[in-house]
Amino acid sequence: MPASRRGSGSVTLPTGQTLAIHTRIQGEEDLPHATKKTMADHLRKYESLFTLTPQRMRMIVEAFTETLEIGLNKPNQIVPMIPTYVFGWPTGQETGDFLALDLGGTNLRVCLVTLQGEGKFEITQTKYRLTEEQKQDDGQKLFDFCAECLKTFVDTNFGERDSALKPGQNLPLGFTFSYPCSQERIDHGELIRWTKGFGAANTEGRDVAEMFKKSLEKYQLPIQLTALINDTTGTLIASHYVNPRTKIAVIFGTGCNAAYMENVKNIEKINHLGIDPAAEMAINCEWGAFDSFEHEHLPRTKYDAIVDDTSNKPGEQAFEKLISGRYLGEILRLVICELIDEGVLFLGQNTYKLEKPYCLDTAFLSLMESDPTDELLMIIGIFTHFFALETTLAERQFFRALAKLIGRRAARLSSCGIAAIVSKMGYLEEGCMVGADGSLYNKYPGFADRVHEGLQDIFGEKGRNIITHHAEDGSGVGSAIIASYDKDQERRWIVHSCLNYRQDEGHCDSAKNRQIAM
Ligand code: GLC
Repeated sequence: MPASRRGSGSVTLPTGQTLAIHTRIQGEEDLPHATKKTMADHLRKYESLFTLTPQRMRMIVEAFTETLEIGLNKPNQIVPMIPTYVFGWPTGQETGDFLALDLGGTNLRVCLVTLQGEGKFEITQTKYRLTEEQKQDDGQKLFDFCAECLKTFVDTNFGERDSALKPGQNLPLGFTFSYPCSQERIDHGELIRWTKGFGAANTEGRDVAEMFKKSLEKYQLPIQLTALINDTTGTLIASHYVNPRTKIAVIFGTGCNAAYMENVKNIEKINHLGIDPAAEMAINCEWGAFDSFEHEHLPRTKYDAIVDDTSNKPGEQAFEKLISGRYLGEILRLVICELIDEGVLFLGQNTYKLEKPYCLDTAFLSLMESDPTDELLMIIGIFTHFFALETTLAERQFFRALAKLIGRRAARLSSCGIAAIVSKMGYLEEGCMVGADGSLYNKYPGFADRVHEGLQDIFGEKGRNIITHHAEDGSGVGSAIIASYDKDQERRWIVHSCLNYRQDEGHCDSAKNRQIAM
């Protein structure tokens, strides 16, 4: 008789589901399982595929830095380095009530933000879940849904606050639309391409601010769209509002992207606009697109190539596809499926549940890595509960090691992106803070430590000068602060002088403006 042991526990998944584990561990002879030695041999192969040496990382940083420069110099580049028309850092003294709407990857969020000055704020918010159909349906319908949710929120929160809304008065709204949009002004944005699996029709190439205003009118909302922003830009401004040492913001969520503050004189592609060269403007890098199409610089494995080929946007977002939460679970699943096909794993068991693309959520990798038990009970729970598969301890240790390789590679590649901005801006000596947000950063065990370790591998001891910290809510607070910039006279002056210049110089033809402003 094989020995049997028992274990039990429970865990709450990020999806809100509670997974109760009550396991009786049989001896390992019942099913034909791979031996410990076989698993160790396989692991060595994956280690060499997924490990990034410091030398390789430095090469990536060099190519990355060059790509950032090119994006600033020339319009329409793969990494578009988008000028956001968000001028300069907040003073911390911004005040007032602002609405913020956040259309990210998974949810739609509506917030009422009260900026109180001195880096303080209050926030009231409601979240609405987006369905897969809404992400693929007609774009105008998606914006209509946003307006409908806003209406519900305004009716609920302002119904009785008559002092807050007088007849004819409009509430200023910052719209965080976290997809690459080329901008000519702060309340404009032409969608370059959908990312993160979105594909709503009739939207790419159009001004999403305009589309959204149409939806606001349809629902007769007393709201004025004052700013269209990216989540990274919002995070940059919000994090600086509370921590002025923050110079860079990065999102590690369903997507991956960064923003930083650039000197206008260095944004060569908009030099002709005549904006004060001494001014500063936030740049939305859209670095998720780094190495797209050509695939020259990043260490892509065949699993990454499959993720890419089977995505709704093959070739695009090459950097993001190696890092973001949308893809890490799928990479692990593809490795496991390969070993199933080779007859190494789960012989004699029905693996159909695991063969469904994207069924292995990145949250599972977090759970696998953080399993505190010797028997790896959490991993037993995941495989039995979600995939009806039995595993041996050797296999579970292998899965955990694989998750670690994939998670660590994502963090180290992220360090390369941060290092590129740090090098470009010369922040290494004086050091800086990096505001970071998103499910990977906030929930994946050890992600931040691995990013820091990566920065030290790239820069040596000085890498310690670059410190990431959990960012303030960019899509809510950041968006409100930026919406408040509209009231700021000095900033207005910069924008107006830029617009006047464009009229004087005959740059008003909109097609031309579209090109030059990117
Ligand atoms: C994707 C989007 C980008 C966004 C990021 C994080 O990369 O293209 O705009 O900032 O996801 O949400």
